Amino acid sequence: MSAASAPGKIILFGEHAVVYGRPALAVPVMQVQANATVQKTGEFSAENWADSVLVVAPDIGLSSPLSRLQSEHTPHPLAAVIQIVLQRLGIDRAPAFSVTIRSTIPVASGMGSGAAVSVAVIRALAGFFEHPLSDEQVNQIAYEIEKLHHGTPSGIDNTVITYARPVYFVHGEPIQTFSVARPFTLVIANTGQAAPTKESVGDVRKLWQADKGRWEAVFDKVGKIVEEAKNAIESGQTCGLGPLMDANHALLQELTVSSPELDRLVLAAKAAGADGAKLSGGGRGGNMIALVNPKRAESVASALKAAGAKNTIVTTI
Ligand code: PMV
Repeated sequence: MSAASAPGKIILFGEHAVVYGRPALAVPVMQVQANATVQKTGEFSAENWADSVLVVAPDIGLSSPLSRLQSEHTPHPLAAVIQIVLQRLGIDRAPAFSVTIRSTIPVASGMGSGAAVSVAVIRALAGFFEHPLSDEQVNQIAYEIEKLHHGTPSGIDNTVITYARPVYFVHGEPIQTFSVARPFTLVIANTGQAAPTKESVGDVRKLWQADKGRWEAVFDKVGKIVEEAKNAIESGQTCGLGPLMDANHALLQELTVSSPELDRLVLAAKAAGADGAKLSGGGRGGNMIALVNPKRAESVASALKAAGAKNTIVTTI
C-alpha cells in the first residue's frame, strides 16, 4: 500500500496578474488536505488492465474501473490524472490495484483542490510503483494536469501545493520561497459559489487583448503590491498588509473578476474589524481572505457567515 497527502493553498496577492508574468504570493493551508491511497487488489491482469484499476472517491460517491471513466465522452478528471501519471512513470502493465481519493479541500473555491488531488495521486502512485520522483518532477506532472483543466494556468497552485511552503511565484522562474518573520492570521471565507477560473482567466485575456496598454499598467500595479507585501511579511511589518490587500482587491474589481457576493464578504469583514480583505484565486465565486488580529478572528468569521459565507477557516500563516 502507498499513501500520500497534499495541502490546500490560498493566493495571498497577485492572482490573474501572475498569468502575465508578474509575481504572486501563495501559502499552503495545512488544515485541509487531499489524500490518495494506492492498494494492490490482485495479481497481474488480462489485456486491458485498466479494467482492473479501481478508482474510488467516497466524497463524490465514485467507485468505478479506470477503463469505464476513460471511455466516457469527456473522460473523468480523476481518470485523466491517473492515466497521465502512469504514462509519465512508464507503467503499462501492473497488478490490479485501487486508487482511493479523499479530500477535505472545498472544490472550485480557489484552494487548489484539483492540484492537491493531482499531487497526492502522483506521489501515492510513484510510491506504489517504487518510482521515486523529485519535487520538481511531481510539480511538472501536476502542472501538465492543471493545463488540461484550466487552459493557461500560471502554475502557482501545483507549485505551492507540491512544495507545501510559502511561495513567491513567477511563471517560468525557479521556485522561490519566502519567510514569514511574524505570524499573521487570516480568515478564509467561501462564497459557496464555484469559482469559474477558466472563464475569468479567459475574460481577463479578452480585456487584455482589446487594450494591452491599460491592462499591463494594472498588472504592474498588482506586481508592485506583491513586492511590497513580500517585504512586509519578511520584515514582520504585517500591519502594512491590510491596505495592500484592499488595494489588490480594488484592482481585481477593475479586472472584472470580483462578484457581488465576494464584495459583500469583503465589506462585511472590514466592517467587523478586519485590517484588510480581498478575493483570493480566480474570483467570481470561491474564496475571499481577511487579515485579522487573532483576537478578532472569531467575530470576523461570524460576521462573514452572517453576510452569507458558507464556510470559514481561520488560519495562521
Ligand atoms: O482559483 P485558483 O486559486 O486556482 O487561482 C487561479 C489563479 C489565477 O491567477 C487566476 C490563474 C492562474 O493560473 O494563476
